[in-house]
This record gives sequence, C-alpha cells and structure tokens, in this order.
Amino acid sequence: MKEPIEQIAEWIVTSMRVVVFTGAGLSTESGIPDFRSPGGVWDRYHPEDFYFQNFLASESSREKYWQMATEMFEPIKKARPNPAHLAIAEMEKMKRLDCVITQNIDGLHLKAGNSNDKILELHGTAMFVSCLNCHKRYDRDTIQERIKRGEKAPRCDDCRGPLKPATISFGQSMPEAETQEAYHRSSLSDLFIVIGSSLVVQPAASMPLVAKRNGARLVIINRDPTPYDDMAEIVLHGQAGPTMAGILEMVKMKLGRGNPAIP
Ligand code: APR
Repeated sequence: MKEPIEQIAEWIVTSMRVVVFTGAGLSTESGIPDFRSPGGVWDRYHPEDFYFQNFLASESSREKYWQMATEMFEPIKKARPNPAHLAIAEMEKMKRLDCVITQNIDGLHLKAGNSNDKILELHGTAMFVSCLNCHKRYDRDTIQERIKRGEKAPRCDDCRGPLKPATISFGQSMPEAETQEAYHRSSLSDLFIVIGSSLVVQPAASMPLVAKRNGARLVIINRDPTPYDDMAEIVLHGQAGPTMAGILEMVKMKLGRGNPAIP
C-alpha cells in the first residue's frame, strides 16, 4: 500500500477531472479563524445574529451585523494565501484541476493565482458589498471607510436600500449559477478532494456525496474528523498547508522534471 500522500498525488496525475472543495480550515494558516473550532467565529458570536431575516428585520440588527462583519473583515483584509492555496493554484497551472468549489468568502484562491472561471464561491464573497434592493455593488474598502467615518448600517447611494457584504448568510438563498455548476462539476469528477471543512453546512456539504455517488474517489484532508470520513478512500487528519505542499511536490515528481506542464 502506497503512502497516502503518494497515492493522492498519483490520483491527481491520473484522474481526468479533479475537483477541490474547500472550507474555512484552508485559511486558518493565513490568520483567518474558522467557524467551529475552539476560538472560532461561532465561539465569539451567536450565529443567530447573522441570520438574514434578522438583518432585514431592523436597523439595530443591521448595525450589530455591520459591527461584527467589520471585526471579521480585519483578518481577511490582511490575509495572504498559504501553501495550501498556492498548491491548488499550481495544480491549475499544471492542468491538474477541473475547478475549486469553495465555501470561503476571503478571496484567497484568486489571490493565490487560480483563475476566476475555475473558482465557484458557494457562500459569496466578503470582498464586495451589494445593495439588497437595487443590487448595486460597492468595493468593500470603500464601505469600511464610510463605517470608520461613523455610518453604522450603510445605505445605497442610488436607492437608499440597505447594503450588506456580498456573503450568503444563514437563511439567504444560495447563488443559483454557482450552486448548479458546483453540483454539475461534482457529479462529473473522478477525484474529489475536501480540504479544511467540517462538512456540516448544507447544501455545500452534499457536494462530496454527489461526487461519491457518481463514482469519484473521495479524499478528505481536515484537522478534525468529519461525518464523511468513513466514505472516503483516504482521510488525512493534518494541517492543510504542509499536507498540500507535500502532495504538490509528489505530483511534480510523478509528472517528471522537464515535463512542460511543470512550472
Ligand atoms: N488544516 C486542516 N484543517 C483545518 C485547519 C488546518 N490548518 N484549521 C482548521 N481545520 C479544520 C477544522 O478541524 C474544522 O473541522 O477545518 C474545519 C473548518 O470547519 P468549519 O469551521 O465548520 O468551517 P466550514 O466547514 O468552512 O463551515 C461551513 O459554515 O458558518 C458557515 O458560512 C460559514 O462557509 C461556512 C460554513
């Protein structure tokens, strides 16, 4: 039996459609806390305060939302891609990646070098703000400047509608096109690699099941156990950064030095 890292690398080299599925655990090594680990976001805030219905309900709950969202945006703004993000970007360069399906709102896959059309953001993005009424988009930094100058729950310049970070809150409908495309790609994949997700939030967490049901091999790289570990061919309970860096080195070795696909 090959070492798991070597086996995963071999599958990345020999598979036709490799899909990578990422969660907040991918970005903790970039300084962004995840949601359900000790000290994570849901340790510090009540998830109910983030429910979409609450945001729509009153000015005071929008002010509370923006206060929390501003605190959460600080580490996101400073964050740099870590070796796991960079390995996924290199997989794309080596034409070993079909797409990356992410629950993350931090924009680090794009910063790492994955191209926009290869990234499916299921939970939106924190990098932009949009009006819930006319859907006008604003750059996040511009709105954070307005908050610094004293606005508590910013409103749209055009229609005075409430502004909200372009993330998908609990109770808010998922982005249709991205979700459909993610299901489609998951069903076509022959290797599905989960990195840094507790796999407890639906419908995102059903993507590995869709892949598995359609014959894909499932690999899970996550520090803690997940509800799907038993279904996976390989489970590695380790840190995403060093694990993905090791897999990438092995992929390069297997693809062979001097191969034009090797950057
Ligand atoms: N390397 C590997 N795994 C890690 C690392 C790391 N450096 N750091 C954390 N983890 C693992 C944790 O063990 C945990 O199981 O990543 C997982 C992160 O799980 P969650 O915090 O639940 O994050 P995620 O799965 O992305 O949450 C899904 O829930 O709150 C909503 O919208 C939010 O997109 C988010 C969704």
